[in-house]
Amino acid sequence: MSRNILILASGTGSLAEAIIVATQSGEISGNVIGVLTDQPDAQVVAKCAVLEIPIITHPMSSDRKSWDSELFLIAQSLNPSLVVSAGFMRILAPEFISTFKVINSHPALLPKFPGAHAVRDALAAKASVTGATIHWVDSGIDTGKVIAQQEVQVLADDTEAVLHERIKIVERGLIVATISDLLSSMENSDE
Ligand code: GAR
Repeated sequence: MSRNILILASGTGSLAEAIIVATQSGEISGNVIGVLTDQPDAQVVAKCAVLEIPIITHPMSSDRKSWDSELFLIAQSLNPSLVVSAGFMRILAPEFISTFKVINSHPALLPKFPGAHAVRDALAAKASVTGATIHWVDSGIDTGKVIAQQEVQVLADDTEAVLHERIKIVERGLIVATISDLLSSMENSDE
């Protein structure tokens, strides 16, 4: 049974691209049914066009409750086995989290440096090591159970952008390996 993955992304989409490429090469035995973004002008939109993956744009509205309900209905219509938050800069509503299996990639070694500025916060704290975390999404901000982590050294002359790019190289490998493992264990539990 082929597993459907729904990706949520808000920015460059390099994680989304790595996941899509891994499904297309067979490294992940699953299928990306679509990428949903809240940012219609984000680079991830162009990446999906090139990769021939459906993009669903769902810009934030002034009515947050309606936006959450619509997001839920979109996901429900796609019936994903796994939802992957890959650089999606929105908090997901409790109903969404309790209905779908959702994982998130975070650019720090949680529980250190949760939130939207993890790389900046690691530099400000003068951390010598930071990294990447893949975790289940729960109702908190980056508080869900950790699935996988990998360290990245902070170098003396790192800027936020340079360090983030080095972390994202690690994140791309970690998210692909984690999705592959999770989908395989879902297959095994079906047997
Ligand atoms: C990644 O570093 C991801 O961990 C981060 O956004 C980046 C997306 O990169 N997400 C968060 O910080 C969420 N708290 P991308 O747009 O190149 O895939």
